[in-house]
Amino acid sequence: MDIASRPAEPAQNPQIADAAPAPQAPPVIRREDYLPPAWLVPEIALDFALGLDATTVVSRLSVRRNPAGNGAQTLRLNGDQISPVAVHVDGEAINDWRMDGPDLLIELSGEAHEVRVETALVPSGNSQLMGLYASNGMLCTQCEAEGFRRITFFPDRPDVLSTYSVRMAGAKATFPILLANGNCTAQGEGENGTHWAEWHDPWPKPSYLFALVAGELIANHATFTTMGGRTVDLNVWVRPGDEGRTQHALDSLIASMKWDEETFGREYDLDLFNIVAVSDFNMGAMENKGLNVFNTRYVLADPETATDADYDAIEGVIGHEYFHNWSGNRITCRDWFQLSLKEGFTVLRDQLFSAAMGSEPVKRIEDVRVLRIAQFPEDSGPLAHPIRPDSYQEISNFYTATVYNKGAEVIRMMRTMAGEERFRQGTDLYFERHDGEAATCEDFVKAIEDGAGLDLTQFRLWYSQAGTPQVSASLKVENGTAVLSLRQSVPATPGQPEKQPMPIPLRVALFDRASGTHGGESLIVLDKAEDSFTFDGAGHDPILSINRGFSAPVSIEMARPDADLVFLAAHDDDPFARYEAMQSLVVQHLVAAVGSGLNEAQREAGREAIGEAFGAIVTDPELDDLMRGELLLLPAESYLAEQLLVSDPGAIHAEREGLKAWLGRKLGGELRALHDRVSAVPYSREAAARGARKVKTQALVYIAAGDPAEGARRGYAQYQAASCMTDRQGALMVLASLDCPERELALADFLARYEGNALVIDKWFSLQAGSLHPRVLDHIKALASHPEFRMSNPNRVRSLYMAAAMNPVAFHDPDGEGYRMIGDLIRRLDPINPQTAARFVASLGRWRRVEPQRAALMRAELERIAAQADLSRDVREQVTKSLG
Ligand code: ARG
Ligand code: ZN
Repeated sequence: MDIASRPAEPAQNPQIADAAPAPQAPPVIRREDYLPPAWLVPEIALDFALGLDATTVVSRLSVRRNPAGNGAQTLRLNGDQISPVAVHVDGEAINDWRMDGPDLLIELSGEAHEVRVETALVPSGNSQLMGLYASNGMLCTQCEAEGFRRITFFPDRPDVLSTYSVRMAGAKATFPILLANGNCTAQGEGENGTHWAEWHDPWPKPSYLFALVAGELIANHATFTTMGGRTVDLNVWVRPGDEGRTQHALDSLIASMKWDEETFGREYDLDLFNIVAVSDFNMGAMENKGLNVFNTRYVLADPETATDADYDAIEGVIGHEYFHNWSGNRITCRDWFQLSLKEGFTVLRDQLFSAAMGSEPVKRIEDVRVLRIAQFPEDSGPLAHPIRPDSYQEISNFYTATVYNKGAEVIRMMRTMAGEERFRQGTDLYFERHDGEAATCEDFVKAIEDGAGLDLTQFRLWYSQAGTPQVSASLKVENGTAVLSLRQSVPATPGQPEKQPMPIPLRVALFDRASGTHGGESLIVLDKAEDSFTFDGAGHDPILSINRGFSAPVSIEMARPDADLVFLAAHDDDPFARYEAMQSLVVQHLVAAVGSGLNEAQREAGREAIGEAFGAIVTDPELDDLMRGELLLLPAESYLAEQLLVSDPGAIHAEREGLKAWLGRKLGGELRALHDRVSAVPYSREAAARGARKVKTQALVYIAAGDPAEGARRGYAQYQAASCMTDRQGALMVLASLDCPERELALADFLARYEGNALVIDKWFSLQAGSLHPRVLDHIKALASHPEFRMSNPNRVRSLYMAAAMNPVAFHDPDGEGYRMIGDLIRRLDPINPQTAARFVASLGRWRRVEPQRAALMRAELERIAAQADLSRDVREQVTKSLG
């Protein structure tokens, strides 16, 4: 059907014109209200006439009454900022359709019908980046969670699975490449320089997995032969000019496919797998069936423009989206409350994949660091929610560190308790039992329970209770028998004042001081409010190593002598526990220093203990540099703030910076020697060279803290000698915080050198916005009016303002200028891109945990946002909860 010539008429239905203004409080959607859909849509055929400024869509749905539904006559098709140009039922134009708010309602009398709806879209005007939008001259889609309803009217919920056929036509010059889900079944030339393509996806899927891409793209291609012998064509599509930066993404895809076969027995199920990189994208990437759409930052890399961390992130996200093909697409979610079913499990899968590709202990430490920085604060603040939430107003607000990262930790605990082999039996059963279904978290737990042979009755509390459990531990020894007493409490969270004890699996070991070894690790499960565990043959004064490998996402409270932590930091054979001991040593000291206050002698004693452990790490020849890099990181200020009921961000910053400078002075010689040694290692992607680069910049950080002039000298030398982005970015980061001429020289060079490379210019913005320079707020303000700043591009917005919101110096400016800046941003960005705007609210929402003067300023900023009329549902929900 040719719809290209039809003009996009405005809707004729009078009920659309005077739609009521959006209510102040968006309706609350509750998990317990779930009802199966009244109508199913076994098949859908979509026909697109593509244009950047005008696209028309004709959608033909074959609808069938759901035997498990409520028997309603009314077919409800969700819409969002679209109106029907024409509606047909069984081939006849009808006029008795109605609108209910954004939704289209049609009365249907029979069991099965064909419904045809035409819509007209303006992709270039779609700044929310949900639905069909224009990015960099091309067209692409983002449908998860509720973007499909911005393209056409549809029961836009994940438990309605349909087989999709897509036809698209458009100008060949603008859209030489036409992609959709599944396989291309036909293509041809049209009139007036147009061409068309037809795509068919044989796998029934929910609407959120639909995707379409059209534009001028170029592919890096490879093939992969699956374990069953299927040859799969793989393409990484990018804008011409970017093709030289796609090999790592393609290699990561191949590695993911192979790993999922070997580790989870999962084989790919189409003959084609396409990845497209787009530069305007709200999130990281999207697992659309057979057509993953990615933020360019998780695709494009070469050594000159991407850091080692960028390479790792690309590998992880490529894996993540690929793994969704089974944990997400073949088995999807019944409703959005089940989001962690696919996200928690898929994050665990991508973590295990990255660990297998690189260093397992280093990956574990990184994952725990992310959890503590991003998820712990969420879990203790006004936006806390269980990994399976009970209610929401806007589902986009629930793509959180809790659903994703804590969700992964919860499944990881099941794996720890079952052991790898039995866990695999559990996941095998899950994939077999629920293939082709829209499942629930409960289905997953039951499958693991049955397949792995675990009793997870009480464990299900991890799905329903929010809050990070606090476990306090104490150890007593008598006659060689050690008694470990544990007590847990799960803090109250919004809507959940009372909590029940949860099963907490803890890997523990008792070290003998003299030999530096332990008699074996045990796994204990604390499943009561209080319990004690006995260990024989423990010697007379053992040292406890607890929550090894971070076996449970809890925080352990235990007062311990510095000497014990120094011992574990040097001797623990669990690398995570070693890192943890180092962190605890520093946390304990800094919390004491900013809390009760330490006198000079006590502060000096604390620093000496830390300096001793640090010195050992800097010089230990046995340590590999990647691990050394982890051990040298000081705990984040947000994590330190978490340890205090109410914190003074200024005091935390000053004390932590003071320690950094002290370490830089104390270990100056060793740090300079380390910086010299690793600076001589030539570039390669091998672990040893990556480790060298990691400690190179860290050594520089401490050197600059202890001796800014030496830091400026070495930083500028590192910048100029850099043969890769890791070294160059690291040097520029250090220089950006210094008040020295080298800072301006390097910043100007960087901008000129990478002109036109958006991802690198993002780095230029975020390094400055994240700097500890005394005039950082002025710098951020100037950057906001820099010609390269663009409010419409989420990567650019995040590079400036997320870096600012996470920068303690800028954000927590005592006069509240940082809060005002983020508040202004939220109010300006909300009408453009509510999803991205809402992401900034959480930083202001921490006010209850901040000292009273700053707290009042933060709260006032939230109130200014709340007072704004016409706030999006996204921002409204987050602001209301943060004030509440
Ligand atoms: N499912 C995607 C992923 O985690 C995230 C997409 C979410 N997008 C959104 N606009 N909420 O891989
Ligand atoms: Zn995901």
